[in-house]
Amino acid sequence: MNRLISMMLGGTLLLGVALGASLAIAKPDAKPGAGPPAPSANASAAPVGPKSIQLPAIASELPPGPGRETAAVACVICHSPRYITGQPAFGRAVWVAEVDKMRKVYGAPIQEAQVAEIVDYLVAIRGTEAPPAP
Ligand code: HEC
Repeated sequence: MNRLISMMLGGTLLLGVALGASLAIAKPDAKPGAGPPAPSANASAAPVGPKSIQLPAIASELPPGPGRETAAVACVICHSPRYITGQPAFGRAVWVAEVDKMRKVYGAPIQEAQVAEIVDYLVAIRGTEAPPAP
């Protein structure tokens, strides 16, 4: 019972504080019969109007280079080239494994004979090492 009373008291006290606070905030504008506040009262609100944002530059096309056409046909039938261009630079072994995964796990229809050309291209555009001499 004591607990209930103290909860009620606490609630009333909170309500009083909230009311007091809102009255205190409302007071400067509260002139009797003044009607709604003038538009200048909103001057501190966020400005309304067009805004501009800066988007990161992510290539949406495969960059030029030897093997690009083969890679474009082999790799872009299932997903956007951004899956490739959005990757950081990897070593050759990682790209070999990646192409292997696309073929064996996801069923990419890539001939064994095309793999070297595609890997060379991937290493050239997103590799940590220079492509092998032609
Ligand atoms: C048969 C469809 C298919 C083909 C063809 C294909 N991929 Fe993928 N690839 C996928 C799928 C499915 C995922 C996973 C998508 C996801 O997790 O959202 C993926 C994801 C990726 C990723 C993201 C990393 C990862 O391992 O999940 C890379 C990089 C990638 N592919 C590269 C390639 C390259 C390079 C080729 C060409 C050699 C290729 N893909 C061809 C289906 C394919």
